[in-house]
Amino acid sequence: MNTDLLRIEAADLRQRLQALGRIGDTGNGGCCRLALSDADREGRDLVVGWMRELGLRVQVDPVGNIFGWRDGTQPELPPVMTGSHIDTVATGGRYDGNYGVLAGLTVVHTLNRVGITTRHPLCVAVFTNEEGARFQPDMLGSLVYSGGLSLADAHATRAIDGAVLVDELRRIGYLGTAPLPLARPRAFVELHIEQGPVLDAEGGLIGAVHNLQGISWQALSISGQSNHAGTTPMRLRHDAGHCAAAVACFVRRLADEMGGSQVATVGSLTLHPNLINVIAARAELTVDLRNTDEALLQQAEQRLATFLSELAAAEGVRVESRSLARFAPVQFDPAVARRIQAQARRLGYDTRTMTSGAGHDAQMMARLCPTAMIFVPSVKGISHNPAEHTEPEHLVAGANVLLHTLLELAAG
Ligand code: GLV
Ligand code: MN
Ligand code: MN
Repeated sequence: MNTDLLRIEAADLRQRLQALGRIGDTGNGGCCRLALSDADREGRDLVVGWMRELGLRVQVDPVGNIFGWRDGTQPELPPVMTGSHIDTVATGGRYDGNYGVLAGLTVVHTLNRVGITTRHPLCVAVFTNEEGARFQPDMLGSLVYSGGLSLADAHATRAIDGAVLVDELRRIGYLGTAPLPLARPRAFVELHIEQGPVLDAEGGLIGAVHNLQGISWQALSISGQSNHAGTTPMRLRHDAGHCAAAVACFVRRLADEMGGSQVATVGSLTLHPNLINVIAARAELTVDLRNTDEALLQQAEQRLATFLSELAAAEGVRVESRSLARFAPVQFDPAVARRIQAQARRLGYDTRTMTSGAGHDAQMMARLCPTAMIFVPSVKGISHNPAEHTEPEHLVAGANVLLHTLLELAAG
């Protein structure tokens, strides 16, 4: 059958996105489905039900990754895999991760509708805890799948609310038994919203993602001395709150000075005892540093470490830092990225190559098999925010590029 004219059904994708978006609905357009929460379980159950309806064979591995298999004419060949995640940050949107998984299901629906069996098997994956908002590190399911973290270490991971990962997997019914990794795919292609402003500013293109920033996450704990806010002279203070603010200002300055792709964020900060008239005894904060260049990322980490030891000495506080996640920048497979671009052009979409600023499961899968990503525009570049939005025609365009990229890879 000539598949050139085949297109996905927009309504199928839209309905799946709407239905999944209702689970964990925050009432303001957003979603809260933290990894392995009750809402995550509900979302997983919905997606697994859809996989079964579509005739996919469902397997769950011991880190809770879900795989829906569609046989090829040569079932012994390695699968072509797509997918992403359905966990969200607590203030997430409806598209981050969900779009890639559901577009994968829409591709399967399209192939079922016209009765196409690909040569290589196809597999749609849902990876556990991509966001890293509840359990760190992020991309945990795909990291274990690709051999970067042992199952025992993953299982022992503690959530920010104290829960242990393996207990939560068991509780929600997703402690599976499938082998890890289940297969080394022929290729992995992840479709995702850009979550940044580049494509939107250029009027809506398809991005072929050829590399992805390195990520360094640290938890800092600053211990000073609690004291009376009215009576303690400024020169005698060991103020953990002031020091936390100094770190936030420092990392902003660092990123501004370094320029290029360097970004830096203090996204979480808690003071103790957190009272108006008490100098903070302790501050717990996180630092997120990212750069596309490993040497520059190391330089940023080094400069932060120097600043922290100078701060500790100058302010008479103790600073402890702990790594929460550390991933080097990734170059995706140029041949897969070229196929994505060629398919996008053939379908009549403008396209460009680009970098990903966000972390993705594809970053982990690139350790295992030829991998690249397809991006579609995010309106105003807003993400990790209930206002996250992608225009319906861009969602459809990305899914069509996914369909044809998978068809090409699964035929070869
Ligand atoms: C995941 O969304 C990340 O890039 O932090
Ligand atoms: Mn994502
Ligand atoms: Mn995200």
